[in-house]
Amino acid sequence: MSYLNELKIEYNRYFTKALLAIAKEDWNVAVNNLDMATRRLSEISAHRTGIAKDTTQDWMFDLVEEIKKIENHVKLEKSKKKALAMLEEKKEKQAQEGKFTPTDVPETTFDDIAGLEDVKQAVMYKVIYPQKYPDVYKLFKKRTGGGILLYGLPGTGKTLIAEAIAHETGASFFSVKCSDLGSKWFGETEQNIRDVFESARACENAVIFFDEIEAYATNRRDNSAMERSVPEFLAQMQGVGSSEEKNKILIIGATNKPWKLDGAFLRPGRFDEKIYVPLPDAQSRKKILGHRMNGVPIDENLNVDVIVQETEGYNGADMDYLCEKAKENAIRRSIWDASATRVITNEDFEQAYNVIKSSVLQSDREEMEKWVKENRS
Ligand SMILES: Nc1ncnc2c1ncn2[C@@H]1O[C@H](COP(=O)(O)OP(=O)(O)OP(=O)(O)O)[C@@H](O)[C@H]1O
Ligand SMILES: [Mg+2]
Repeated sequence: MSYLNELKIEYNRYFTKALLAIAKEDWNVAVNNLDMATRRLSEISAHRTGIAKDTTQDWMFDLVEEIKKIENHVKLEKSKKKALAMLEEKKEKQAQEGKFTPTDVPETTFDDIAGLEDVKQAVMYKVIYPQKYPDVYKLFKKRTGGGILLYGLPGTGKTLIAEAIAHETGASFFSVKCSDLGSKWFGETEQNIRDVFESARACENAVIFFDEIEAYATNRRDNSAMERSVPEFLAQMQGVGSSEEKNKILIIGATNKPWKLDGAFLRPGRFDEKIYVPLPDAQSRKKILGHRMNGVPIDENLNVDVIVQETEGYNGADMDYLCEKAKENAIRRSIWDASATRVITNEDFEQAYNVIKSSVLQSDREEMEKWVKENRS
């Protein structure tokens, strides 16, 4: 038998084996045999000329394409399997833990919050004192529980306040990021909402904190996906305010875009207490500075009033960042210059606020001021 014929027979054998393997979805065997078949075709083509050569080569390229397709398919299957396994693992973990469990009680206390005296006082009367002095509240038949909405520009301390509330009340604290309600948890958003409230009801005393609430309770007209879940949220909130449940669950919502909230959330019986968390004024900025510089060596000539003046429009988070930067400057100097005094100086702060500007957008500031003017009760 000629060498060419031998090649043809071998080619046929590998190709048939590949077809059988494909039929059985045995992808590794299929690829190996297709590869061998292609090699034989390549040799066959070397023995041919003209149209016969072209046809053999075309067929060879077709086989190479086929191999690529199978390899891609296998890759896809592999990642699909991996994703499914991860999903299963996550589901199992959730089933074990229960979907919504109270978060560890945060360390934050009211003493950690500089300034915001009005806010702290409002929170005290609404949240802390009803638990501390229940008799007094009962005597005056004061309705307690329900919802409070903390609203204010980003970085002004809303999350900090919610954490401090959880710390001070000793209540079970459920922290829910609203952007997670529809995506992170398995199942329907409405079911997830019911689950959060149900888990909270099972506790003696609970605080549910819905952070970034505008992401969830967004105006229904702007987001059709919310059409069904907003009523569920409202119904659950209404339930919390009902006579047999009051005193038990406090709902705190936080938002830096209150104008995006569905109007229904702001009506009595829902977030009936709205607390504006403003940008820190000069005095508050001074207090934040004091907090952050507590126990840190500072130059006796440090001009705090100038720093406070220069930071008009900074939020709490910016102030935090500024102090960190000033510390960094002092550290750098202390490391590289042995003769330098190891204290934080005016220059350290000057350099810092030359780099760190207020992160609050002017447009957000204007929109917030407008909303506050129109809605503040
Ligand atoms: N009044 C404050 N006293 C002390 N630190 C503050 C104060 N306000 C803000 N900060 C600092 O800024 C950081 C951010 O604050 P927080 O996360 O509470 O802001 P937020 O209002 O929830 O912002 P966002 O709207 O972006 O969620 C805090 O971790 C804290 O370091
Ligand atoms: Mg926050």
